[in-house]
Amino acid sequence: MQRAAPQEFDRVLSSMCTEPHPAARDAAERFLATNPGDPATYAEIAELEARAVSELGRITGLDEATATGVRADRPTEAAAPYGYVTSGGTEANIQAVRAARDRRRVADPNLVVPESAHFSFNKAADVLGIELRTVPTDDDHRADLDAVAAAVDDQTVVVVGVAGSTEYGRVDPIPELAAVAHDAGAYCHVDAAWGGFLLPFTDHAWNFAHAPVDSLTIDPHKCGRAVIPAGGLLFRERAGMNALAVDTPYLETPSQASLTGTRSGAGVASAVAAMDALWPAGYRREYERADRLARWLATELRERGYDVADVELPIVVADVDAPTFERLRDRGWRISRTGSGLARVVVMPHVTREMLQAFLTDLDDLR
Ligand SMILES: Cc1ncc(COP(=O)(O)O)c(C=O)c1O
Repeated sequence: MQRAAPQEFDRVLSSMCTEPHPAARDAAERFLATNPGDPATYAEIAELEARAVSELGRITGLDEATATGVRADRPTEAAAPYGYVTSGGTEANIQAVRAARDRRRVADPNLVVPESAHFSFNKAADVLGIELRTVPTDDDHRADLDAVAAAVDDQTVVVVGVAGSTEYGRVDPIPELAAVAHDAGAYCHVDAAWGGFLLPFTDHAWNFAHAPVDSLTIDPHKCGRAVIPAGGLLFRERAGMNALAVDTPYLETPSQASLTGTRSGAGVASAVAAMDALWPAGYRREYERADRLARWLATELRERGYDVADVELPIVVADVDAPTFERLRDRGWRISRTGSGLARVVVMPHVTREMLQAFLTDLDDLR
């Protein structure tokens, strides 16, 4: 049988994931046969998960965040839990909505998201049986506060703000969204799945220290350079994790908060290894490099006559016509489109200036 090979990254401009850091790859391999879903059996990986959560807490302004999945009323010797390493941003977002629903306890719950929010919130609404209220964004693709305020009511369980949106890399006005949410008695969740490892090096107000945010998604397997699967969910208060915990009669620990049961320790170990290697100087260097490259690409495209959205975080969106887009894909470029059909380039750590230069050369050739 022929041995299958993964894609190379040299033409990947569409992904929000990237090549893992070498230390992350190594840690993933060593911890492949571990299961943080059963912390009494796999104690070493459970300890690493506690470190991952505490490190993520530091990055997101929640210094006091620590270990995983125990209940306040049935504590173990493990440190206090304010989050865990999820399978990705989707699980983290679903769980944040689930926790808000179960803490708020209203008869007819709804969830308010800007239209820039990731489709994982559609899944959350669907599986949790909650009404999804999607509200328009402003002209620059950020949550429109008036529209959010108009959509919120006394049955709203959570208002979502995006810090690094999937299509345009925009950051919503998080402090204002948190105020709207709390005025209505709802929780505020920030989705920084992609942006969370970039935003610490910007002036944006996005995290637990900047605003009374209740929960936050930040994914090591995106800009954190961990291997897949490694997402992150954090809560300001222990009660967030408590709301998710179910009893686990046949395990030696009393409860489990994750949505998945058995789960890979590879992602957890690799997240710790990547953060140990890169926080903060390595991540800062990468943010600055990606920011420079994205702005350079935007200028190059504008000089060729394309309409290019302003760059906020390193995503470049341009109005490349459909036939050219298809021909670029035929030449092997992995590029993607926004919902409205604009070409989108995500400048991740594997994306180099040489790659983008080769992309522009092909674009010039095809025009
Ligand atoms: C802002 C945002 N949130 C959530 C997700 C979902 O993450 P995952 O694909 O890891 O489940 C993504 C994926 O790109 C994203 O960009």
